Amino acid sequence: MQRMNGRIQVRPEIARVEAYVPGESLEAFSARTGVPMERLIKLNSNESPYPASPRVAKALGSYGQYNLYPDPDATALNAALAGYVGVDPDYIISSNGSNELINVLWHAFLGPGDSVVTSPPTFSLYTTATTLAGGEIIMAPRRENFDLDVAATIAALRDDTKLIMVCSPNNPTGNYVPRADIEALLETGRIVVVDEAYIEFAGDEALAESPITLVPERENLVVLRTFSKWAGLAGMRLGYGAFPLWLVPHVRKLQLPFEVNLAAHIAAHETLADLPFLKERIRQIVAERERLTRTLSSFGFLRAYPSRGNFVLLELTDPRLSLPEFRARMEAAGIIIRYFRTPDLARHARITVGTPEHTDAIAAVLTDIDNQLNAMAAPAETAPATVAG
Ligand SMILES: Cc1ncc(COP(=O)(O)O)c(C=O)c1O
Repeated sequence: MQRMNGRIQVRPEIARVEAYVPGESLEAFSARTGVPMERLIKLNSNESPYPASPRVAKALGSYGQYNLYPDPDATALNAALAGYVGVDPDYIISSNGSNELINVLWHAFLGPGDSVVTSPPTFSLYTTATTLAGGEIIMAPRRENFDLDVAATIAALRDDTKLIMVCSPNNPTGNYVPRADIEALLETGRIVVVDEAYIEFAGDEALAESPITLVPERENLVVLRTFSKWAGLAGMRLGYGAFPLWLVPHVRKLQLPFEVNLAAHIAAHETLADLPFLKERIRQIVAERERLTRTLSSFGFLRAYPSRGNFVLLELTDPRLSLPEFRARMEAAGIIIRYFRTPDLARHARITVGTPEHTDAIAAVLTDIDNQLNAMAAPAETAPATVAG
């Protein structure tokens, strides 16, 4: 039911907005396809395939004061986060997932008639948040290899543009944005928001040159991070960001009291106290990303895009293989990956990097598809049916 009656209505921008569609849950996938839950391989939400640091569960189990609220100012948490990223704690705001900071920032800056410039394909929440706030999203084109095009981004700015949204590494294409590009965007004087949800997978050099350390010098730079991906804590919901000092009190006003739950406070401390363990996990995932990319590239019917995140974008390039056929093959094997509804990604899918066994399972499905495509090319009398199977 969209509306109650003529007099009682939600705001028009809420009625207009397309709800953000997260990756399908195990439960929903199993109910839809009939594949039992224990056979599923979930690679559709860029979660870590590995559990969090073992210190997290231990500390959560032994903590005895869940009857009390957490520190509303998150003083110790923000100090620990600040130490991790290398800025003063005054610049840090923590949140219930970084999604929440996107929502809050958008409400801080956007109203009807305002716009946000971003570069598709990118994280769809930026569009959802813009429409919700009553604003308009302006799409600046990327280069052919999906790299950010700084000149095109600057050319797309209008007088009413309040935010430039940059995702680095970009979900779902995996492109990293060098610091010099961010600096060029900062020169426009607009608020530049850099979403670094996947920066830990981009390599030590990228982490070291992250624009997050520029925040204290720039009045128009916000950098967002999360524990959802590299720390294996997506379910715990812990995001944070570095904000210019003048903006911090405004964003805090828009957050609810006790924004970050106590379990997430504890999980963050234990994670940051166990960085060598997490670094080894990141190393494993990056190595597996490279193996997954090589595996995908070895099949002639698709193109795999090089990625700096914990996911790989692929594009079906053989016209004999449709996306619904490809999807049906993956789903029959219990492999859940991400498909898109936008026309620019009509023949694409994004695979989260999993364990070596997950990559092997994907390779087995792709080998089957490859065999069938090869058989289709063979003389008619030996060719079996179709790939749809
Ligand atoms: C680019 C990007 N930013 C932010 C998020 C949300 O992260 P969080 O779990 O911290 O809300 C995601 C999650 O997929 C993402 O892909």
